[in-house]
Amino acid sequence: MATATAELAINGGTPVFESNVPFMAVGLTEKDIAAATEVLHSGMLRAASKCAALETKFAEMTDAKIGMTCANGTCALQLAYGATIERGDEVIVPAWTYIATASMLVAAGAKVVFCDSLEDTYQADPADIEAKITPNTKAIAVTHIYGIPVDIDAIQAIADKHGLRVIYDCAQAHLAEYKGKGIGAFGDVCTYSFYATKNLGTGEGGIVTANNDEIARKMGLLRSHGETDKYVHEAIGFNYRMNDITGAIGLSKLDELPAQTNRRRAVAKLYHDRIDAIDGIHRPVPTEGSEPAWHLYSCRFDEARFNCTRDEFTAALNKEGVPTALHYPKSLTEQPAFADVVKANGGHEPPVALKLAKQVFSIPMHQNLTDEQVHGVCDAIEKVASAFCK
Ligand SMILES: Cc1ncc(COP(=O)(O)O)c(C=O)c1O
Repeated sequence: MATATAELAINGGTPVFESNVPFMAVGLTEKDIAAATEVLHSGMLRAASKCAALETKFAEMTDAKIGMTCANGTCALQLAYGATIERGDEVIVPAWTYIATASMLVAAGAKVVFCDSLEDTYQADPADIEAKITPNTKAIAVTHIYGIPVDIDAIQAIADKHGLRVIYDCAQAHLAEYKGKGIGAFGDVCTYSFYATKNLGTGEGGIVTANNDEIARKMGLLRSHGETDKYVHEAIGFNYRMNDITGAIGLSKLDELPAQTNRRRAVAKLYHDRIDAIDGIHRPVPTEGSEPAWHLYSCRFDEARFNCTRDEFTAALNKEGVPTALHYPKSLTEQPAFADVVKANGGHEPPVALKLAKQVFSIPMHQNLTDEQVHGVCDAIEKVASAFCK
């Protein structure tokens, strides 16, 4: 029997949760703090042994050859693009990603061409990537958005066929796997963010990984003023370095990341099973052969099935004690910052990205959720869906 709308917390009914379920897990453990304190006591504040150890360990754990820490995930993208893309190169990037994946291409002087995404996995659509290739295309820059790997085999096949570079924005995908390998095994460069809310969060921070020595060498030059020896500058570069306090926190957190990622996967499985049974709400579908890192768990709201808007639906969920967020409220083609890019793309706006912006909502996803909380979140979605269903 349908839930009466009067039973919803938003209408004065009893909420599913007395207090809000935490949306994400952030913060440091005593072990992380001790690791940072040790560096503070040592006085070695610049990038040194802690950053070097983080680079080795992170590369190893993601099946990449070389790791290089940097200041944040945006700098990671700048290093990756700086080492693989020339000014004027055409680069295909999804309209359904965080702004930095595309904006740093503009900053690198590339001509951005937006491709669409698949509505079930949310990942860049290989068929649309291929359709957008011209003789000027030099690279594909795609995001494993929400921590779900893209269809890497399909994208690599396109890249091989057309001689293109592939850059993966892995800011949301630490320890994600594809066909039994870490995602660092694929593409020319993988870039990561260690922003406070990421699966591995050091506050600010990032890393790039590569499997090619020459690309890694170029990124190394860009990271630190093109310096090859003390005050010898082979190329123009920047200061995008990390520091050892951040490096120590990252190393400490990396110890816990495999277990935390496994817990995220178990939470995702519980969500999948429950949400599959809720009419009108679609859950994220992993790309075939992938093991996502589940940075976010974003569902789709089918507006045709409900008597309310997506925003009314999430407002009702929030009152039940389930916080939600929109990742993202707009396709990049709707952002004023890309008005000129859209114009240069002939006004084309990938339609699935536009649709996703109207449909998605993220629910709590992190390693500290208990089974009881996960079931409570699903109970709340079920309750609100039942009250608003047509
Ligand atoms: C997909 C994606 N790319 C890039 C970034 C940028 O990382 P940062 O905030 O560390 O600069 C983020 C962070 O929000 C992200 O989610």
